[in-house]
Amino acid sequence: QVPHVTLCVRASDFEAAAKATLPNKSWIYASSSANSGQSFQGNIDDWSRVTFRPRVLRNVEEVEVGTRILGNASRLPFYCSPMGSMGSIHPDGEIEMTRAIVQTGMHGLMSTSSSKTTEQIMETYLTEQERRSSTGGTASKLMFQLYLPTDHQRSLELIRRVKKAGCFHSLWLTIDTPVLGKRTADRYQQAQEALNAGLAEEDISPAAEQEVASQGGAPPKVSKDIGGRPPPGQLSARTTWEDLAWIRREWGDRPIVLKGIQTADDARLALQHGVQGILLSNHGGRQMHAAPSALMTLLEIRTYAPEVLGKLEVYVDGGLRDGADVLKALCLGATAVGVGRPFLYALAAYGRRGVERCVDGE
Ligand code: FNR
Repeated sequence: QVPHVTLCVRASDFEAAAKATLPNKSWIYASSSANSGQSFQGNIDDWSRVTFRPRVLRNVEEVEVGTRILGNASRLPFYCSPMGSMGSIHPDGEIEMTRAIVQTGMHGLMSTSSSKTTEQIMETYLTEQERRSSTGGTASKLMFQLYLPTDHQRSLELIRRVKKAGCFHSLWLTIDTPVLGKRTADRYQQAQEALNAGLAEEDISPAAEQEVASQGGAPPKVSKDIGGRPPPGQLSARTTWEDLAWIRREWGDRPIVLKGIQTADDARLALQHGVQGILLSNHGGRQMHAAPSALMTLLEIRTYAPEVLGKLEVYVDGGLRDGADVLKALCLGATAVGVGRPFLYALAAYGRRGVERCVDGE
């Protein structure tokens, strides 16, 4: 009798493997999305509606898919998106993911709310990178995703600490999370827990949002606020375009990318504010309800702010599930593509080997 296994042939197959592996709470954390799931499902549906215009009778013996990400060659036209609290997905979460990133020669982003410290992740990165370069493999870059805490001093300290740890390739400021999205599956889970414990609704926490946990491996804080507001002191809801000036001063000349641009108007503002790149993203459908997919935003920019495409690097993420989706984004003018859940699911089911297989299998 052969035991039941999930055959992982396509990147999307790791989802079922992760679901079969993870404890329910971790599965919910990884897979949940805002409200009815419209933003989440829209991401996947929109990319699946695009078809190619195949031209024939061209020499395609040699195919080159590499790109440049903020000045560095990348073997692959996609990178690993930042995802917080990987410790709830795999015991060595960020460490395993970093090893896989370097091993595959992919670039990747470290989240502000990682389960491991920046220093621990950077140490793994540098060790793995040395090993990889001694075998002649292409270099990965590890980039930093920043959530701004409410407290200004803490923000400054965070940026300084990240630079000191050696993670200074580029700063990706997430701008789509001034408040936390209403993660429906988390809310059902909490309602169920409350029911089981015989508690009144006022006594339970909102989505125990692990993405906003403080940097440095601290356990996620649980707030008493109902309605998905992050606990006080964690996420700044006051950040505006003006803040980019002090962030730039603190960060220095290296690239800044805004993660979570969702309109052509904001793409134009980003250009005016001197950043090097924008990431069109609705946070994998976890934040705003009825948000546009990155594809829709990209099409809007092509129509109403085409000048942006020549002047900024334009990244997209959300719902890209195979090599064909990546190619669609590149054909429409994206510099490269972020991939989130498929790599997280591969990590959940098979650790670093799963991620490596997921990267190179497509
Ligand atoms: C995320 N995302 C995210 N983004 C960010 O800027 N900081 C973070 O800490 C996290 N954490 C996080 C956790 C989990 C479990 C998920 C699934 C996502 C959003 C992520 O970077 C990216 O925008 C989306 O995941 C892309 O969509 P797909 O590829 O997951 O569909």
